[in-house]
Amino acid sequence: MTYTPVSAMKCFLWVVLVISLDLSSANSISSYNHYRLPTALRPQKYYLRILTLLENPDDLRFAGSVQIVIEALENTRNITLHSKNLTIDESQITLRHISGSGSKDNCVSSTSVNPTHDYYILHTCRELLAGNVYKLCLPFSAELNRQLFGYYRSSYKDPVTNTTRWLSATQFEPAAARKAFPCFDEPGFKASFVVTLGYHKQFTGLSNMPVKEIETHESLPNYVWCEFEQSVPMSTYLVAYSVNDFSFKPSTLPNGALFRTWARPNAIDQCDYAAEFGPKVLQYYEQFFGIKFPLPKIDQIALPDFSAGAMENWGLVTYRETTLLYSPTHSSLSDQQNLANVIAHELAHQWFGNLVTMKWWTDLWLNEGFATYVAGLGVQQFHPEWHSRDKGILTALITSFRLDSLVSSHPISRPIQMVTEIEESFDAISYQKGSAVLRMMHLFMGEESFRSGLKEYLQLHAYKNAEQDNLWESLTSAAHQSGALDGHLYIKTIMDSWTLQTGYPVLNITRDYSAGTAMLTQERYLRNSQIPRAERVGCWWVPLSYTTQVEKHFNNTGPRAWMECSNTGESVPTTIDLLPGPEEWLIFNIQLSTPYKANYDARNWKLLIDTLNSGEFQSIHVINRAQLIDDVLYFAWTGEQDYDTALQLTNYLQRERDLIPWKAALDNLKLLNRLLRQTSNFGSFKRYMKKLLTPIYEHLNGMNDTFSSITQQDHVLLKTMVVNVACQYQVGDCVPQALAYYRHWRSEANPDENNPVPINLRSTVYCTALGQGSEEDWDFLWSRYKKSNVGSDRQTILSTLGCSKAVWILQRYMEKAFSPKSGIRKQDSALCFQAVASGQVGFLLAKQYMMENIEFIYKYYYPQIRALSSLLLPFSEQVSTMSDLNKFRSFANDSRHFLKGIRQAMQQSLETMLTNVQWMDRNYQHFSRTIQHHL
Ligand SMILES: *[C@@H]1O[C@H](CO)[C@@H](O)[C@H](O)[C@H]1NC(C)=O
Ligand SMILES: *[C@@H]1O[C@H](CO)[C@@H](O)[C@H](O)[C@H]1NC(C)=O
Ligand SMILES: *[C@@H]1O[C@H](CO)[C@@H](O)[C@H](O)[C@H]1NC(C)=O
Ligand SMILES: *[C@@H]1O[C@H](CO)[C@@H](O)[C@H](O)[C@H]1NC(C)=O
Ligand SMILES: *[C@@H]1O[C@H](CO)[C@@H](O)[C@H](O)[C@H]1NC(C)=O
Ligand SMILES: *[C@@H]1O[C@H](CO)[C@@H](O)[C@H](O)[C@H]1NC(C)=O
Ligand SMILES: [Zn+2]
Repeated sequence: MTYTPVSAMKCFLWVVLVISLDLSSANSISSYNHYRLPTALRPQKYYLRILTLLENPDDLRFAGSVQIVIEALENTRNITLHSKNLTIDESQITLRHISGSGSKDNCVSSTSVNPTHDYYILHTCRELLAGNVYKLCLPFSAELNRQLFGYYRSSYKDPVTNTTRWLSATQFEPAAARKAFPCFDEPGFKASFVVTLGYHKQFTGLSNMPVKEIETHESLPNYVWCEFEQSVPMSTYLVAYSVNDFSFKPSTLPNGALFRTWARPNAIDQCDYAAEFGPKVLQYYEQFFGIKFPLPKIDQIALPDFSAGAMENWGLVTYRETTLLYSPTHSSLSDQQNLANVIAHELAHQWFGNLVTMKWWTDLWLNEGFATYVAGLGVQQFHPEWHSRDKGILTALITSFRLDSLVSSHPISRPIQMVTEIEESFDAISYQKGSAVLRMMHLFMGEESFRSGLKEYLQLHAYKNAEQDNLWESLTSAAHQSGALDGHLYIKTIMDSWTLQTGYPVLNITRDYSAGTAMLTQERYLRNSQIPRAERVGCWWVPLSYTTQVEKHFNNTGPRAWMECSNTGESVPTTIDLLPGPEEWLIFNIQLSTPYKANYDARNWKLLIDTLNSGEFQSIHVINRAQLIDDVLYFAWTGEQDYDTALQLTNYLQRERDLIPWKAALDNLKLLNRLLRQTSNFGSFKRYMKKLLTPIYEHLNGMNDTFSSITQQDHVLLKTMVVNVACQYQVGDCVPQALAYYRHWRSEANPDENNPVPINLRSTVYCTALGQGSEEDWDFLWSRYKKSNVGSDRQTILSTLGCSKAVWILQRYMEKAFSPKSGIRKQDSALCFQAVASGQVGFLLAKQYMMENIEFIYKYYYPQIRALSSLLLPFSEQVSTMSDLNKFRSFANDSRHFLKGIRQAMQQSLETMLTNVQWMDRNYQHFSRTIQHHL
């Protein structure tokens, strides 16, 4: 095949009234330094033409032109927009007046840039006049980058011909459309897009809208121009396109939008589940939101290289392979639930985010919190046996409780100026805490008023932008109308206390047993015990749901009272009366409906613990059992309760057979493991863990393959989770069984075809085997990685290759992780590093590797350095001595140049390490003594 070089495209059509450019001061530095674009201009429509060249692997690139129809709202002498790392042929820029009473001809006299905010500024020859409409045409070109952002390249190996196939894809959120074409790259500048893609005819082009027509290219042989229908008005970050040679599976439902699922041809048989589930969930949301999906089609595509989990581009949703592709013979149940959840999340965005978009990134949480929350409802609808709603909310709470107990956390809604700050906002606070406070509102408002308020909000702001206050207005009026909220209460008053304030409260509940009352106070909960009392002030509006041992009204999640704040934002102690006698427990926060922690007086804890440790433990709702575990372990950590109380409570786990309390317990106990496993008293902790785990391990038949007889799907996950820890603590026959499975697999003649290890046990078996195993065991698994065709399978392998305890093997693995030639994709490098760094031996190696190679790692990710923050996670959990903490502090300081894009994550890591050091100082001796009494 011959390769034809193509220069940047010309702005072909505009011969009339075009005045050529006088570039007297090209690319001088502009004085305009505000982080938001000027508002004098508003883009109405983009005509975007992009030619993608995938023939020459040494020169993968694109060339295009964009014509932007711009309305002047105020008079101005410049057009300021975003452009990043694009080559713009300035001699070809044109500016034309197309309507209004102003002067007919105009031109661009000079350009300048502002690299801090990625501005490209065109100074016009004549003033643009308010009320007039102009058309600006800019030709541009760039290479298809390797950064997984903007317009980038991806590839896969075709197993039949053993050749590399190239493809292109976009990832624009939050601020990378500017890397693909010059544009007004802020979510508030919505416009319609007419996309036309040029490519070799062996490929397919996809974009947000359906194809309008395909024409042959005017000069390049075998090339076509594929024009797509004009889009609805949307934000630049939702524009998407891809040129690829994928196959698709259609699955359109009657009366539904055209629905297709795309993947590389040799993975198309892994699309069945997503193709079936996607359209059903889309239809569910049409009913849930009461608004039809507005586009004629929707495609979902699995990309071999993808930075995030998935992206909700309107009408063309992009995924990692692991979040879209499902193989019944290779994907575990947890993989399947994960992908259902991601699909449901992205499709929820088609309304929340795409139809109604945040005005500015400050309100990112509205998009993400909503999609996270509603995804749980969508999955629940079609897989009630998975209990995804409850599991989702527990995960949301557990994750956000941890992060949000740090001083270095941040409010859900917060000011944003720099792109790095936008990127840092894609965190547990926006997603998980956001989802938790939305659920709180759903539960205190009730189904009907919540749904009608939402619908009104979406209808009112469709195709436009909104802020959280707009949502509060719609919800308040719905809640007042239905009587769900007292006339004197406003959603804004309540919700501002949750979204504008960092953290969450702990409620101190002290009962007066003779009077039958309880007195409630609140303050901010912080894990860092050096913070003085005076800095823990704060007031949250708390809907109070509670029940008692007699009532057991665990279905009643609505508020029986409110804990209010004064006009000046101070908390007002609240008294609850008509409570039962001294022999009965009282429990607050039914089904964890609100993100707060509840601490009781000693007697009430005792009553709860007695019930948990009796045959009656199931009379407490399963989510509240998880709550009690999570709360008591937090309080013991920070000293509000002692470990004797906490361990008495967790003792009941010997009876527990449900997933949710186990998840809460193992999550917290893992932290103790990380601190204790290098101490001389680890033996006692291990014995305690064995005591808790043995009954459940046996109940679930341990490592034996009994999956086909499990009727309750939850127990599949529970078994997966339990055996994983059981092998770590050498419970029962866990380790020998794991080794036997692995030996069996290794003896298979064709291990890529036949894997005798039960799918849901693979992670545990691989990790256990490599932990004990030889170089050959490691190399065997690595070969399986290289040959696997299934994303989730490859992910399982990568995360267990770090389980080796051999220093040199781990070192070699870490080096592979950051070496593009090794076969590990950039998207997976953090997973590999984490796998090494989480291990006891690997931790020390990874720490040293990171500190010595930070510049190299920085360059590997540059400019997407946010990936660095996930490398820090395993260290946060394990650093527990003052000297190690100080090493990290100096590292943070010495390497600040490389770490400045992840400042927030670094602060959070350092603070977490500090709380570990505090734990060792305050609790280690006490804990070591106490646990002896519980063995
Ligand atoms: C461009 O015009 C806007 C609005 O008139 C103005 O605020 C801004 O400062 C100008 N930018 C430059 C670089 O002159
Ligand atoms: C900008 O693009 C050039 C090639 O087009 C590339 O070499 C360079 O690394 C890019 N810079 C950034 C910061 O992405
Ligand atoms: C595939 O090609 C690579 C080099 O491109 C070569 O090393 C490898 O042996 C080939 N594999 C097969 C099965 O032909
Ligand atoms: C609570 O709700 C669950 C599920 O909706 C239902 O099965 C149960 O019977 C209800 N319990 C009471 C006491 O109403
Ligand atoms: C909580 O109540 C206990 C008494 O049960 C009291 O000692 C403690 O100071 C209270 N803490 C707060 C934050 O009010
Ligand atoms: C697994 O199965 C074997 C053989 O049937 C049995 O001896 C063993 O006790 C089982 N293990 C567990 C934990 O159930
Ligand atoms: Zn999202």
